[in-house]
Amino acid sequence: ARPALAAAGHREHGSMDVGVMPAAGKLGLASGLPLPALMRLPLERKDGALQGCLTAAAVRLPLLSGRPATEFWAYNDSVPGPAIELSEGETLNLRFDNRLPQPTTVHWHGLPIPADQDGNPQDPVAPGQGRDYRFTLPAGCAGSYWYHPHPHGHTSEQVYRGLAGVFVVRSRNDPLAHLPERWLVLSDLKLDDDGGIAASSDADRMDGREGQFVLANGAWRPRLTLGVGERQRWRIWNATSARVLKLALPAHEVWLVGTDGGLLERPRRVENLLVPPGGRVELAVTGRFAPGLPAGLLALPYARGKMMGPEQDKALSLAEVDAGEAVATAPLPAKLRRIDALPRPAVKRSVVFSENMANPAAMFLINGRTFDMDRMDFTGKVGAVEEWEIDNQADMDHPFHLHGTQFQVTERHDGKGWRREPYLAWLDVVNVPPGQKVRLRFRQDMPGPRMFHCHILEHEDAGMMGMLDVRA
Ligand code: C2O
Ligand code: CU
Ligand code: CU
Repeated sequence: ARPALAAAGHREHGSMDVGVMPAAGKLGLASGLPLPALMRLPLERKDGALQGCLTAAAVRLPLLSGRPATEFWAYNDSVPGPAIELSEGETLNLRFDNRLPQPTTVHWHGLPIPADQDGNPQDPVAPGQGRDYRFTLPAGCAGSYWYHPHPHGHTSEQVYRGLAGVFVVRSRNDPLAHLPERWLVLSDLKLDDDGGIAASSDADRMDGREGQFVLANGAWRPRLTLGVGERQRWRIWNATSARVLKLALPAHEVWLVGTDGGLLERPRRVENLLVPPGGRVELAVTGRFAPGLPAGLLALPYARGKMMGPEQDKALSLAEVDAGEAVATAPLPAKLRRIDALPRPAVKRSVVFSENMANPAAMFLINGRTFDMDRMDFTGKVGAVEEWEIDNQADMDHPFHLHGTQFQVTERHDGKGWRREPYLAWLDVVNVPPGQKVRLRFRQDMPGPRMFHCHILEHEDAGMMGMLDVRA
């Protein structure tokens, strides 16, 4: 299969109040290509498991017309990496080979799998080495996940060079199985003047890295078709290092139907949605093409915290949507599934994000400390409900992420008062703006060390991470 980035061709694009990032045009990256389909990881059924092979290696992909190919680091030579799709109850047995010049791991972001299979930084795969990852997907975990490297100190670099892929778990009774699906992996691309992938600057390491381009399935502002009246199910991944994406499809009818850990209880009509780095949403999108409104998928302006100016005053177009033939609108079930609220917690903990710009060795802190691989920050128990209060005392947004399970946000404090979360959802990343707090509940069903960290990958690498030791 051809890597998504290998698609060729060019079409002009016109839009009104939608901006383009400064300098993006000059680099000559084509836009307006058809949305590339994601390559699938071939899986073979053997010994009660689905077996596949994943290799991380450098690869040159044609990116800019009239220039030499750009070096990426990719899984199976594809950017994004091959999509992995399994059903609840199935076992994956994956052979992984590291042909990168650095140690790496494969982390299965959001999946409830054993800690020793989860690609923690304590379990690196050295260059030239390999390992097997093997895990079974428990019942009830159907949803949109992803995989990416998680080596100590090099997660940002390995992800921005191209290493990330999606992982979809299907349920055998999926109330939305009748809808056609679109998968959109949003990633960030920062190029230097020679068309190579730029190294991160000091500012990137502080503010979070943002490039000149936000790509969808490896293409810049690609086009896709939505029938007039047609209802499609879109899964969207925010695989950027640091962008809090405020997504909108202003011309269309949009219902939020799922979050990181799968479907909501019922669809919710939305105008726009904040998707933090690492986060996912499932939408039911119906083509309405309301006149006068941009037809595409937009990222609306969003300033991350106080230290960042309003970096963009215009919406960015992430993908163009063309009107297809009129199609009868498929029904959207009123009930999607049942989610039980997690009961009262057995343990309460506080997680405080802070910044100390005066100390370059420990700028981003959790409870006053920087990450230490030899330190367990908390000790928990398998099966015990915990309530964590994430308190962002820093000057910018920090999206909180926890490994090994999904959580439910119960309340948010916007600086003035607490407000109950209006609906139940399973999440593994939640954005916490400066001066705000979030309360969430979770349960870990398997023992072992679980990382929690800011999902701005530059902050994670800088030590804004801790470990929860879950004991049997
Ligand atoms: Cu997606 Cu610990 O990360
Ligand atoms: Cu994760
Ligand atoms: Cu952060």
